[in-house]
Amino acid sequence: MNLEDNYGRKHDYLRISITDRCNLRCIYCMGEDGIKLLNHNEILTYEEIVGFVKVLSPLGLRRLRITGGEPLVRKGVENLIGSLSGIAGIEDIALTTNGELLEPMLDKLMDNGLKRVNISLDSLKPDLYKKITRVGNLDKVLKGINSALRKGLTPIKINVVLMAGVNDQEIYEFLKLTLDDPIHVRFIEYMPLDGHDQMWSKRYLPLNAVKEKAAGLGFRLNPEEGLVGNGTAETWRIHGAQGTIGFINPVSCHFCSSCTRLRLTADGKFKPCLYWQEEINVRKALKNPLVLQSLIKQGLSLKHEKHQMNAQTQGNEQGYVRSMAQIGG
Ligand code: 5AD
Ligand code: SF4
Repeated sequence: MNLEDNYGRKHDYLRISITDRCNLRCIYCMGEDGIKLLNHNEILTYEEIVGFVKVLSPLGLRRLRITGGEPLVRKGVENLIGSLSGIAGIEDIALTTNGELLEPMLDKLMDNGLKRVNISLDSLKPDLYKKITRVGNLDKVLKGINSALRKGLTPIKINVVLMAGVNDQEIYEFLKLTLDDPIHVRFIEYMPLDGHDQMWSKRYLPLNAVKEKAAGLGFRLNPEEGLVGNGTAETWRIHGAQGTIGFINPVSCHFCSSCTRLRLTADGKFKPCLYWQEEINVRKALKNPLVLQSLIKQGLSLKHEKHQMNAQTQGNEQGYVRSMAQIGG
């Protein structure tokens, strides 16, 4: 058995959400009061997560990403990273974080085998950053980024969710960030994940807006190849810049045909796709590799050919019920 689905896609990448909790309340992710949280006993233990990865690695799993919620709010995440990096076949472990708690944790994360971080940062202006995250402190994130640069946790990727009328005036500042440091800024299209909220239709902006802006500013963008772990991003480099610019446009131009990623939610659901609701509870099978393998096979056979975010309309039956904090980014 391998991790191939009905459309011939071979999966080698797993995103593991280790908690649905978060220290921020980003406007596109959750309401002011947060989301309905899982009970502690519903969350997979680190041993269970390691067990899951051990069953998938002989089937072709190579790369892992730890997400949340905010993964750094869960105690002992460095130990999980340590155990995962010891599993045969696992070549790369990365982390997606909002960066607020990163700086004091960097050493122990790196000592345990963390290779790379993606930091979610939607504004470089303290006030706007606070508005978007509701409670965040930009200074802490910037300290985390600087420290990660100094300690060589590279490439550092910065994820920017582009929102019309919110942060689209900052495209220039983000582009500029790539000039002098090996920082890779990736603009992400705002996805309609929060079915309960109408913000998306008002704020969604296709990434062509960034390209037009860059061209208007006189930046010459050259295509770039071969940045680690950049499966879904189209990547460019401003002439002479240290870092690159990525465009992740899941809505306007889906990259489903080259998707190699799978997901494990914090409460033990195997999800073959971020968009569709199909998920399989694998928790009970974690002690039995053969049963687990057959559930994974079943999950893969449920994977759709592509998502339908661009057709997303209010009240769409198949639309999301879970936000990114619940699915794992
Ligand atoms: N659309 C696009 N990106 C999102 N993220 C969270 N919710 C959304 C959304 N609705 C991003 C976060 C983080 C990553 C895990 O996903 O900003 O960078
Ligand atoms: Fe937290 Fe990430 Fe959601 Fe922001 S987008 S509230 S950082 S889980």
